[in-house]
Amino acid sequence: MERQSVRPFRSRDWFADPARSDMTALYLERFMNYGLTPAELRSGRPIIGIAQTGSDLSPCNRIHLDLAARVRDGIRDAGGIAMEFPVHPIFENCRRPTAALDRNLAYLGLVETLYGYPIDAVVLTTGCDKTTPSGIMAASTVDIPAIVLSGGPMLDGWHEGELVGSGTVIWRSRRKLAAGEIDEEEFLKRATDSAPSAGHCNTMGTASTMNAVAEALGLSLPGCAAIPAPYRERGQYAYETGRRIVEMAYDDLRPSRILTRDSFLNAIRVVTAIGGSSNAHPHIHAMARHAGIEIEPADWSTYGYDLPLLVDVQPAGRFLGERFHRAGGVPAVMTELLAAGKLDGDCLTVTGRSIADNLAGRHATDREVIRAFADPLKEQAGFLVLTGNLFDVAIMKTSVISPSFRARYLEREGAANAFEARAIVFDGSDDYHHRINDPALAIDENCILVIRGAGPIGWPGSAEVVNMQPPDYLIQRGIMALPTLGDGRQSGTSDSPSILNASPESAVGGGLSWLRTGDVIRIDLEAGRCDALVPDDEIARRRRDDPIPPVPPSHTPWEELYREKTGQLAQGGVLDFALKYRGIAARTPRH
Ligand code: FES
Ligand code: MG
Repeated sequence: MERQSVRPFRSRDWFADPARSDMTALYLERFMNYGLTPAELRSGRPIIGIAQTGSDLSPCNRIHLDLAARVRDGIRDAGGIAMEFPVHPIFENCRRPTAALDRNLAYLGLVETLYGYPIDAVVLTTGCDKTTPSGIMAASTVDIPAIVLSGGPMLDGWHEGELVGSGTVIWRSRRKLAAGEIDEEEFLKRATDSAPSAGHCNTMGTASTMNAVAEALGLSLPGCAAIPAPYRERGQYAYETGRRIVEMAYDDLRPSRILTRDSFLNAIRVVTAIGGSSNAHPHIHAMARHAGIEIEPADWSTYGYDLPLLVDVQPAGRFLGERFHRAGGVPAVMTELLAAGKLDGDCLTVTGRSIADNLAGRHATDREVIRAFADPLKEQAGFLVLTGNLFDVAIMKTSVISPSFRARYLEREGAANAFEARAIVFDGSDDYHHRINDPALAIDENCILVIRGAGPIGWPGSAEVVNMQPPDYLIQRGIMALPTLGDGRQSGTSDSPSILNASPESAVGGGLSWLRTGDVIRIDLEAGRCDALVPDDEIARRRRDDPIPPVPPSHTPWEELYREKTGQLAQGGVLDFALKYRGIAARTPRH
């Protein structure tokens, strides 16, 4: 007897529409090319897409080219038919002018594929930073059953007996290079040693953060996010993920049934506890908006800021992905939060069970890496949401504030958590690189480095450039970090407590557009304020008389379209017009 699905599979509209046998024949015949039979495609079994994000241009996700075989095994064993297809490549480190352009482009392409082809459910292969949010955004728009399969991080990197983590080693080695402690060859060696195997960044950068977020949202099998790419469990999870998506197809377990405001608040909490990437901020807003869920900037303060840092992984801590996985990974962190009453355990997940059910028996097995809630690495370790006359919303990742930075800026006598600094303003990163060592700027420890023209419209795409390092002469004097501020982002692997993602950005007339070098900026973390101490009438005069600082022209058709249609980072930097298309799989496309 044929197994019944909760609602008819949409693929039957292609392969078994009695009213259009002419079209059905046309749809069927070309799949025979690679050996499928009409009987299989007409058997009533679900067609399961495997959204393949791995390729030679996406080395972080390339493991998925192999893992797909195990996903297919799982799909077949559970009674589905697999169809693998490519997703627009996204490679964070290599895509110029920035990979941020690709998140919305991969999203658009995936929506068209999932909607326009006979796909009943999908396995989203994820890894490198934006492959996770783009896939989840698309799955929400189309709203067919979807499950996330992380490719996993690389093995831990080692250099001369010291752990070196991807990305983080670059920022740290750059400072050593500027200080004259290492040469170019040593710099390259440290970088390559940080990447010893297949997989994505082994630090708690944006890739590991976003895969943890997917797991916290209930979109992947529990324990999936942190398994290193080369470990045997990775292939086993690929198989189980393939099996599970077939059940989800029969049960019609769609993203709209899993994603709720509570599940997104859980994700915000997990980001704090793991010391996650500042890029989780725009990506969580983007995924929530595509899921039709309201997340406010204040939610990061209300639900995330007061939580402690529990995970001792770079850049906020010491260790890397292998130790994190062996310590229990994301489920162990969620167990700590749940037991402390800081997680909603009722949220539904891809397993068909609740978060709390999934976590039963999962606990930390290495307290050096995953700390108990009562014994954290840092209290109040979430993102601080700031506002003021320079922007409506910006965030600061407090878990990476170093003791020396804290002592210099935040623990001064009489003004705890507040300081003033003279702005040095750069128009984009070329300007920064040309002028940062210019003695005429007289940069000292009382300065704040500001970069503008780095947001979604300005760059375009929004660049990871806000973690600017001080001039070489300050580094040589032992001043490793200055306060920084900008309308761009920074790498999730960065250990800089920058004020970033400032929205609205300079290119659309945000406050940074009228800021001038020499203006004094007051930052008050207690009050959540960041203001230029410039009188209102002077601001009005500058706004009236001075043009907005210019940004480079668009160089490709997509850059132009992106600039036309993309919103600000505080709202997730999404294509706003796309939000109204949620749930489109309910109507199959016309023949
Ligand atoms: Fe791809 Fe970090 S560069 S995961
Ligand atoms: Mg990045």
